[in-house]
Amino acid sequence: MPDNPPIPSLDELHALKPLQQPSYDDLTEVAHVVNRLRSLPPLVFAGECDALRAKMASAAAGEAFVLQGGDCAETFDGVTAANIQGKLRTLLSMAIVLTYAAQVPIVKVGRMAGQYTKPRSAANETRGDVTLPAYRGDAVNGFAFTPEARRHDPQRLLGVYNASAATLNLVRAFVTGGFAHLRSVHTWNADFVKSSAAGVQYQTLANEIDRALAFMVACGIDDEVFGTVDFYASHEALSLEYEHAMTRVDSRTQLPYNVSGHFLWIGERTRQLEGAHVELLRHVRNPLGIKLGPTSTADTALELADRLDPDHEPGRITFITRMGAHRIRDVLPEIVAKVTASGRQVAWVCDPMHGNTFEARNGFKTRAFSDVIGELNGFFDVHEEQGTWPGGVHVELTGDDVTECVGGSEDLVEADLVNRYETLCDPRLNRNQSLELAFLVAERLTTGRIRRPNPVQAFVPVSF
Ligand code: PEP
Ligand code: CO
Repeated sequence: MPDNPPIPSLDELHALKPLQQPSYDDLTEVAHVVNRLRSLPPLVFAGECDALRAKMASAAAGEAFVLQGGDCAETFDGVTAANIQGKLRTLLSMAIVLTYAAQVPIVKVGRMAGQYTKPRSAANETRGDVTLPAYRGDAVNGFAFTPEARRHDPQRLLGVYNASAATLNLVRAFVTGGFAHLRSVHTWNADFVKSSAAGVQYQTLANEIDRALAFMVACGIDDEVFGTVDFYASHEALSLEYEHAMTRVDSRTQLPYNVSGHFLWIGERTRQLEGAHVELLRHVRNPLGIKLGPTSTADTALELADRLDPDHEPGRITFITRMGAHRIRDVLPEIVAKVTASGRQVAWVCDPMHGNTFEARNGFKTRAFSDVIGELNGFFDVHEEQGTWPGGVHVELTGDDVTECVGGSEDLVEADLVNRYETLCDPRLNRNQSLELAFLVAERLTTGRIRRPNPVQAFVPVSF
């Protein structure tokens, strides 16, 4: 059992000069909000975080594959039933495609119910001759380009709690209430089949799954086990006020957990070894992600692993690599090789989004589907060469037919971006592009699978 040193106070964390934090003008109001948050019930249970840690350990051991996805930035206005259902439907459809291909459990983690704070490359935004604070996510300020909206408002942290609670409540109802039943794989995309190539491919797979399920039920396997799925919530732990207030000592184990989400990650811009984010998260028991960008080195990765996971606990840390399609083959091999040589077994997850952003000629921030797939292919190639397990993918997506990333089978071009560009931060894959990505990842998992025995379905026939 790991040591349980005292959790640093918020003042101690601020003394570490954290990056990417809001500048609030009324500190009394901030203290009031933080106290209120401390008194509110947990959004997730410690036991659920432990269960997810065990699943991440399976992904590290090559016995599971992680699918993590959702908005770049959730918004308060986006907390609607249709929106939540759309994202869930997309993630569950992708998970089905991946399960069928990989034939190992898919660990389903939403970038949902807490993803409200954004790191920014510039503190301010200028339009014409007006300069205002940059939008930092609904947790901090509003998107409208007015001084009132862009003010850093601590009351918004209570909005994050409420929006996350409402989202989780509906997600829990959906995944246990019948929506996620394997027998309803057809219904998730029924409206979509006629209009999309990925939809047609999906329907063919859904037919196969129906037959397989009918076979199993005919063999006497209880239909009940197909009825629900485990679904977890994750976000970037960026707002120290919020994350500190949601860090609680679990009454069952007397150990600290961050009860704002099951899985928390530390972003590329705030993962300084001596920084406040690493310092806070090193004390909580949740499974943690660490983003590794193109300038990362193996030494950085190992130092972070030692700091955040001194006990080499299975499933504790996941490296989420986001190097860019053109850098991954140069940067990732040495990191994977040295981390593996150190004796650590971590889950390796590919974020093919954040290293592949560019500005289109018409000014929209976009990503090319071909670059996203390019980075994924690089990721699978590197792990194949190193003999390590490609443990999962982390994507920005939505359940809607937005036009934010170019390419894909619908062949969206830059001129299409204007039609439905709705993200307040990074461009997301739309429903079609998300499913298409799942089929391409499935293809890589299937070819990988052929070369090794399935670790979760080992079976030695008895010879008579
Ligand atoms: C993100 O995941 O939205 C993000 C900002 O990522 P990164 O820290 O890798 O840039
Ligand atoms: Co993003």
